[in-house]
Amino acid sequence: EETTLGGHKIPRGALIIISPWIVHRHRSYWHHPDHFDPDRFERDDDPMTGAYMPFGIGPRVCAGASFSTVEATSVLAGVTRHYNFKAEKPEEVFPETGIALRSQSEIRCKLIKRSHMTH
Ligand code: HEM
Repeated sequence: EETTLGGHKIPRGALIIISPWIVHRHRSYWHHPDHFDPDRFERDDDPMTGAYMPFGIGPRVCAGASFSTVEATSVLAGVTRHYNFKAEKPEEVFPETGIALRSQSEIRCKLIKRSHMTH
């Protein structure tokens, strides 16, 4: 049925899409939203509940959230411990919307061995 959300009239049957990508870069919620600053999500400066929601929020929150966080952290830590990644053409990297956000094309990178490691 027709309703009102945040002052907006929503007609019956309307399709509503909530984009975490946009919410995570919204200037009403974040300082310097366009800067590459992944640490912003680590600092406790989430300005309001729901402004950071990579796994959704509420009763239907992602069932794999804890697993994915541990998996991604351990894979990234395992790889970046040995190599730095340098995109060959960073100016050609564009995000594309689908079920999940992804790169429009493959991102070719040079792997540079980190010299301070002994193995
Ligand atoms: C980085 C990886 C992942 C991301 C970013 C992600 C994100 C999400 C998001 C945004 C939702 C929708 C939440 C909502 O409706 O509000 C979701 C739902 C769900 N995810 Fe994930 N997910 C990831 C990995 C996984 C993995 C590895 C599993 C299983 C092992 C999983 C299982 C589920 C399930 C079962 C739901 C549906 C929950 C429900 O509707 O009750 N996800 N996920």
